[in-house]
Amino acid sequence: MNSLRDNEALRELLDRLHAASEAQEAAIERYYADGAARPTGYEPDGSDGRRFWQDKYVALDRDKAELTYALARATGARQVVEAGTSFGVSTLYLAAAVKDNGGGRVITCDIEPDKVAVARRHFAEAGLSDVIETRVGDIRLTLAGGFDEPVDLLLLDIWAPIAADVIALVGPSLRVGGMVVADNTTVRRELYAGLFAHLDDPADGFTVTTLPYHGGLCLAVRTSSPATRDH
Ligand SMILES: C[S@@+](CC[C@H](N)C(=O)[O-])C[C@H]1O[C@@H](n2cnc3c(N)ncnc32)[C@H](O)[C@@H]1O
Repeated sequence: MNSLRDNEALRELLDRLHAASEAQEAAIERYYADGAARPTGYEPDGSDGRRFWQDKYVALDRDKAELTYALARATGARQVVEAGTSFGVSTLYLAAAVKDNGGGRVITCDIEPDKVAVARRHFAEAGLSDVIETRVGDIRLTLAGGFDEPVDLLLLDIWAPIAADVIALVGPSLRVGGMVVADNTTVRRELYAGLFAHLDDPADGFTVTTLPYHGGLCLAVRTSSPATRDH
């Protein structure tokens, strides 16, 4: 079973959502050209930055999303965590993989309740709601409780500085052979310093590479158990 090929409702939905995301790219380029800073994840409610991003998909590019589906299939992923739901584009790929692997769950997190409400409608439209758990709120709180089961794959598609907090929360539960996929890591690399401090620390047991997709796609595979820490 390959839901990306065999689920017609999903195929049509993804075509529509990728097109909608791409149609917003010019507005995002203008936003930066006008001097706006990249989002940090700390944009206060009601600020211009927060308002600008509230209706933006910023969806994972299709080629990266298809790779993520393939990686989740290759690892037989049953428990996946996603940082950054937005309107649910990448979540649909992850959920398709988990379903095609025989079932499990994708825990997907976003701070914007209106975006998550729309994403939930997309999950229902594709028939994938049963494998998706949405968590609404600041991810540093919604993932703070840890995990009952090992995590097979973590997709980091969230404002860059938050990624370091997420890897600190999820990393300890990521199984050996599991992986982290992080988007856009060669754009403003300095914003990802906290993430790479974790991934590149030999004690964390990752083998890290950056794949040459647009903006760079970091793939970190946990190849050995993390060292036990005293802190
Ligand atoms: C790049 S978008 C995610 C795109 C999505 N993965 C897709 O492919 O459609 C990043 C998302 O992170 C969310 N976000 C930013 N800061 C957050 C935080 N502190 N906690 C939870 N979500 C946050 C934003 O609201 C935004 O929707």
